[in-house]
Amino acid sequence: MEMMTLRMTVFFWHKMSLADHKNTNGQGIFRMEGDNVSNAFVVRSLDEIRFWSRIMKEHSLFLRLGFRCEDTQLINEANHFYATFESIESRAQAFSAETDPQIIQRFNVEVHTAVSHIWVFKRKVLGLILTCQLIGQNNFPLLLDHTSREAFYFRNRLEQLNAGKLDPLPDAIINENVFFLRIMADHAKFIAHLLDPSERKLVDQAREFSDDFDKLLFQARDLDSMRPQSQTAPLLDQFLDQNRVSVQSLRDFKKTARDLIEACRIKSIIHPLLADHVFREAERFLFIIDMFENALTGKPVTNIEGSH
Ligand SMILES: [Fe+2]
Ligand SMILES: [Fe+2]
Repeated sequence: MEMMTLRMTVFFWHKMSLADHKNTNGQGIFRMEGDNVSNAFVVRSLDEIRFWSRIMKEHSLFLRLGFRCEDTQLINEANHFYATFESIESRAQAFSAETDPQIIQRFNVEVHTAVSHIWVFKRKVLGLILTCQLIGQNNFPLLLDHTSREAFYFRNRLEQLNAGKLDPLPDAIINENVFFLRIMADHAKFIAHLLDPSERKLVDQAREFSDDFDKLLFQARDLDSMRPQSQTAPLLDQFLDQNRVSVQSLRDFKKTARDLIEACRIKSIIHPLLADHVFREAERFLFIIDMFENALTGKPVTNIEGSH
């Protein structure tokens, strides 16, 4: 079942690229490509919402845990967002690929509003921290910035889906990698700072990942700046291959850290759910890299046909 969803998602990106080329009169995707694209729109929307609404729900929990007991207003707001995204998550689970695309389009608008609100909340808290109005709270400013970037990404994806236009493939490859490489670099920094300082070997490893991903991010930004001349198939393919190697090893490191934290084998102030959360985000990035690789090499159509 999981595999089928992934294949449909790959197919959707492929189809959307085709749709973009044909979309000269501003028509929505439903009228342009018929049932396949309507269905792919539903599958893709649900896939994004199921993944990111759980992430938003967990951000609310992490932020709440870092607030001071006296900040009851902020705690209430965080609890409110937790409930909102928990409800969105369970409603997204109840829909299926056969749900009417118009219903999903309205659902996307509703989720978009909730994500906009949590984005405002995160930026507000960032402002309070940076002006020293929450002395003694335990959330890093970079964590607020990081989680607000994830909200912004989610909100943007919902807008793209409802407008019927994802970025063309070569732009999507660079944009998504610039976004996710920075996210991965931040994760490595959070892990290094939240492990107990006495876990010297693990802290060193986390710092090495941080340096590795900072370099990959600079490389991605160079490729970005060299657009559109840099968007050749061999360069993009190599870019994906190189990023995949590092993301796989960071993913494995996070998985090990998660298992060690769950088994109470290492000293840290990392919540086990946070360890799992960053592991899932690395898995998501790997899935996106593979989706791009397939779209570049034209594999998705074969996969779709092979799965039916
Ligand atoms: Fe996150
Ligand atoms: Fe993250």
